[in-house]
Amino acid sequence: MYRTNTCGELNISNVGQTVTLAGWVQRSRDLGGMTFIDLRDRYGITQLAFNMETNADLCQQARRLGREFVVQASGKVIERSSKNSKIPTGEIEIEVTELVVLNAAKTPPFTIEDLSDGGDDLRMKYRYLDLRRNPVRRNLELRHRMAMLVRNYLSNLDFLEIETPMLIKSTPEGARDFVVPSRMNPGEFYALPQSPQQYKQLLMVAGMDRYFQIVRCFRDEDLRADRQPEFTQIDCEMSFVEQEDVLQTFEGLAKHLFKEVKNLDFEQFPRITWHEAMRRFGSDKPDVRFGMEFVELNDVAKGHGFGLFDNAELVVGICAPGCAEYTRKQLDALTDFVKRPQVGAGGLVYVKCNADGSFKSSVDKFFSQDDLKAIAAKMEAKAGDLLLILCGPAMKTRVQLCALRLEMAQQLGLRDPNKFAPLWVVDFPLLEWDDETQRYYAMHHPFTAPKPEDEALLDQPDRWGDIRANAYDIVINGVEVGGGSIRIHDRTLQNKMFHTLGFSDEQAAAQFGFLMDAFTYGAPPHAGLAFGFDRLCSLFGGADSIRDFIAFPKNNSGRDVMSGSPSPIADAQLEELCISVKKNS
Ligand code: AMO
Repeated sequence: MYRTNTCGELNISNVGQTVTLAGWVQRSRDLGGMTFIDLRDRYGITQLAFNMETNADLCQQARRLGREFVVQASGKVIERSSKNSKIPTGEIEIEVTELVVLNAAKTPPFTIEDLSDGGDDLRMKYRYLDLRRNPVRRNLELRHRMAMLVRNYLSNLDFLEIETPMLIKSTPEGARDFVVPSRMNPGEFYALPQSPQQYKQLLMVAGMDRYFQIVRCFRDEDLRADRQPEFTQIDCEMSFVEQEDVLQTFEGLAKHLFKEVKNLDFEQFPRITWHEAMRRFGSDKPDVRFGMEFVELNDVAKGHGFGLFDNAELVVGICAPGCAEYTRKQLDALTDFVKRPQVGAGGLVYVKCNADGSFKSSVDKFFSQDDLKAIAAKMEAKAGDLLLILCGPAMKTRVQLCALRLEMAQQLGLRDPNKFAPLWVVDFPLLEWDDETQRYYAMHHPFTAPKPEDEALLDQPDRWGDIRANAYDIVINGVEVGGGSIRIHDRTLQNKMFHTLGFSDEQAAAQFGFLMDAFTYGAPPHAGLAFGFDRLCSLFGGADSIRDFIAFPKNNSGRDVMSGSPSPIADAQLEELCISVKKNS
């Protein structure tokens, strides 16, 4: 037997027992007469004690152990003379009588401590060492726990977990596909699923009624802190349901996770429409942990001879509480922030609401004290507040102000990772115009149903932008953690939708024929939703990046720096796959 106990479980009640532990050398301390070793495994740390006087050979052997050596130690559990109240095993130590080196180890390139000295790149290259660190291990433990909670919760509601294929047909909608060449079908490719969307709909046609899957998805898109090329969804679909049923079911799941993991209770999650979200927060995933809602100022800001305001479609601002004391330098930094290409505003107008009731603004030339007072009143500002105002085309300006709102909240410490503000955003637009390709795209996917009352607008191309979908997102702390929709189960409506998206009958048949055929054999009304599981875990773990909740993530260039993928493949392999690659000479 390699071990009788783990390194995290022995305490004062075990004193006197003879035990064997196995693990990694975290640290050793040589105090002359005594040598101490912290032995670590997944469960904790236990101190091993070696006495020079009673067992000099063993003590010498212990002194030669390097960091991260894998060892097995046997001995008696004894009470420590100097106790460590910070760890559960801190009252005892093992008086070692036998020590076996199971494996030597090179000195790791960074310290295996909670606060490691290794940078991101180094830790990713040696991810298996990074995973030995407590914070990263704890993240994976949280992920496991949440996966188990989800499985049990959904299984108890009669959902079946069903696996769907990983090698599927490529479809041009949505993000780019990762493709896989087929050796047996030269010149043809599979795609890795961006989501099991079509398969889960087929499972509804198959009568499975309630499906879920914790499933890997693949999207070849630009990466960010909350985006990985391969990520995991809790993918769900239900038959014979309306939007309300879906929202209730998955709100129930989210509340269950909050209760079990965080011991938090929630009333019904607020719901706002997409239009309202854009108007009040400039985002379809608003962070509602804090206020600073948008106030539209056209009526009080226009007509004072300030051309930028007068000519703008929208003048809109936020009130940053208690920031009237911001210095010139801080205000310049905010202006630079909104002018960054990522935000793209032309400039920033500020109004300071001074403590003495006076106002100081960057547009004093055009606005009298009374004019500024009217703006402040409209924004319900108090003395000491700072008003930050942008102007321009409505939607663009809202999105820019959203970036500023989040930046201000960051500066003011309002984005508390221990506070959770979930909400539903509903009634998304069905279609989204793309300037580049000059056509409409499905905002969610082509199987999303329009709201019945907006269906008739499909016959009026000039109104396509106004059609609302029966689509919904669940948003927590400004992160889109999930989204779904009521599906079209009627073939005529689906055909109409394809035409709206610019597909000819032939194209639609070539891309989605199998699904359309299936729908002719009795498709039930159905709807679903998918949570981004990595995002959900990182939110619950209080982190911004999903990377630390994925055992082996990719970096921002989509590379696995540990294994060195992607990598070229041999010419013979390419030939077999009938792929010719242009090589740089
Ligand atoms: P959607 O595309 O909104 O919907 O994806 C569902 C959720 O998956 C998460 N997500 C991601 N997480 C990490 N990295 C990524 N690259 C990434 N892309 C998406 C998000 C998102 O809310 N089939 C539909 C769902 C449905 O209609 O049922 C779908 O995939 O949290």
